[in-house]
Formats: sequence, structure tokens, C-alpha cells
Amino acid sequence: MNIIELNNVTKNYPLGNTTVHALRGIDLNISKGDLVSIIGPSGSGKTTLLNIIGCIDTPTSGSVKIEQQDISTLSDKKTTDLRLFKIGFIFQTFNLIPVLNVLENVEFPLLLMKKHSKDEIRNKSIKLLSEVGLQDHINHKPAELSGGQRQRVAIARALITEPSIILADEPTANLDSKTGEQILNIMKEINSKEHTTFIFSTHDHDVLKYAKRIIKIKDGVIDGEENQ
Ligand SMILES: Nc1ncnc2c1ncn2[C@@H]1O[C@H](COP(=O)(O)OP(=O)(O)OP(=O)(O)O)[C@@H](O)[C@H]1O
Ligand SMILES: [Mg+2]
Repeated sequence: MNIIELNNVTKNYPLGNTTVHALRGIDLNISKGDLVSIIGPSGSGKTTLLNIIGCIDTPTSGSVKIEQQDISTLSDKKTTDLRLFKIGFIFQTFNLIPVLNVLENVEFPLLLMKKHSKDEIRNKSIKLLSEVGLQDHINHKPAELSGGQRQRVAIARALITEPSIILADEPTANLDSKTGEQILNIMKEINSKEHTTFIFSTHDHDVLKYAKRIIKIKDGVIDGEENQ
């Protein structure tokens, strides 16, 4: 089953008197449980593509379906729910909330869901933080952590809602290569254990060995694909 289907997706950004054609007709199907890497040079459209898949941004034309549902037909409320319940986002700059400690950052999306008791949320968050090796750092603020530790908090926060899709925009870009490998191993393990669909972008050829499928993007179009 395709969990994500993009049909002839374009994205234009107005810039002064000109238009930037960030995506120029993307057709892409991703099946459930896949581990996909999107690789391409700076400015090729990777972030734009992930933002559109993650319903953070809308395409200029073309269609995006998540679990067979055309997202352009959804109300704002339904789109917000889709983002909250089905999609986890790991941003390049982590986007943790600075005033909350590690535990509170991870609990936050589940609190928004309003479906679980405080105890359930706390226990689940602590369990997940142990899985990413941060059990001894739950009271730290993001500023008191290393880059790799922050990235692991971001992963735990993305996983807490048990989303079916996790989008990660250059998850290893700000990390040394050893920490980057640890992060990718965590993602790979979750992918095989939970069948969570992962899509991550990268510039880095070293991280490609973690992907099952590699999609190359160049100047806003798909420029080749490899399976491994
Ligand atoms: N808000 C915006 N307004 C105008 N142009 C934009 C905007 N966001 C992105 N662009 C342009 O769209 C193109 C694609 O950008 P995008 O951020 O998707 O590239 P990327 O592949 O993620 O690059 P990087 O590897 O540097 O992160 C670039 O030419 C960029 O300058
Ligand atoms: Mg980018």
C-alpha cells in the first residue's frame, strides 16, 4: 500500500519580481514501512518536498495523498489532526522548546492530543527517552545538551504519538559522524520494529547506506532512484 502519493507536485515561491520554481513536477509513491532517503544538492528542493509531504506547506499545483486521502480536500482542523496524529517531524535545527526540560519536550505532543492521562504520558515519555539513551538527562533543558542529545530528544518527541510517518530534514547535518550513525541506527531500528515509514533528506553520501530506497532530486525534479 502507498502511504504517500504525490502527483505532479509543483511549488513556486514568489521572490521580488521573479518566481522560484522550487519543485517542478514531482511524482512519488512511498509504501508503508519504507525507509527512504532524499538526496540532492543545496537548493534542490528537499526541505520544500518534506514540508509539503508533512502538510506544513501546500503545493502550488498537483496532488498529495496521505493514506489515500487527498490532503487538499481536508479542513484546517483535519489537516492539524493529520499532522499531530500521523506525522512526526524531526527538523535540522531540532526545534525543541527551550523553556521546557527534555521530559516536558517529549510529553508535549501527547498532551496536545488530549487522549491520555498524565501518568500514561509521563511513563511513555520516560520509556522512549530510555530507548534513545537519555534516561539520565530528562531534567536537562535543551541548552544543556549536546547536538546529538538534542537530536535524540527530537526523535523521541517525533515518536511519542506513534505516527505512521516520520519526516527528518537532514537529521545528521549538525552532528559528528559517530553521533550521526547512532541517530540513523535508532531510526533504522524503529523502522524495522514498528514499521514506521521514514523519509529523511541528506547531502551526505555516507548516510545513504541506511536507506532502503534513495531518491535523487535536482533542480526541483526527481533525477533518478536507487533501491538497496
Ligand atoms: N520561502 C521561500 N521563498 C523563496 N524561495 C524559497 C523559499 N524557500 C525555499 N526557497 C527556494 O526554493 C529552492 C529549494 O529550497 P529548499 O529549501 O527546498 O532546498 P534544499 O534542497 O532543502 O536545500 P538545502 O540542502 O540547502 O537545505 C531554493 O532555490 C530556495 O532558495
Ligand atoms: Mg533543506
